[in-house]
Amino acid sequence: MQRLLFVCLGNICRSPTAEAVFAELLRRAGRMDEFQLDSAGTGDWHAGEPPDLRTQAAARALGYPMRHRARQVSRQDFERFDLVLAMDRQNHRDLLALADPVHHPKIQLFRSLDDPGSPADVPDPYYGGEEGFVEVVRIVERVGGRWLEKLGR
Ligand code: 4NP
Repeated sequence: MQRLLFVCLGNICRSPTAEAVFAELLRRAGRMDEFQLDSAGTGDWHAGEPPDLRTQAAARALGYPMRHRARQVSRQDFERFDLVLAMDRQNHRDLLALADPVHHPKIQLFRSLDDPGSPADVPDPYYGGEEGFVEVVRIVERVGGRWLEKLGR
């Protein structure tokens, strides 16, 4: 069993989208029993809330329904999870600052598997228009598929 945690800032846009898309990729690949998934935020402002309505709408329209309640990442998460994927470089820095150095190797940047020359960050859609939420889905579909390939049996 591989335990995988997606982390962004608020846990209401990017990381729940990544979790929902990865879950669907697992279903399609018949590999659901190999993974446990969750997502969390480095901040706590939205703890207990469902994903942003714009996030839910974009993901649902593209075939990725989600059920999640936001929560803040904790130091215990670095014990519980095998891999912690940061949606942007600030999230990555914040996670490294929070975690004991022994856990640093399991904290990785989500887009590190994207095409060479691609931006390093999954852009934060929160203050932008609806197209930004669709772009998040498209990025996590592409890059999530690469993580699934990399995390073979
Ligand atoms: P997320 O997006 O990190 O992808 O969930 C954000 C959600 C909320 C805020 C910022 C980003 N906020 O400032 O409240």
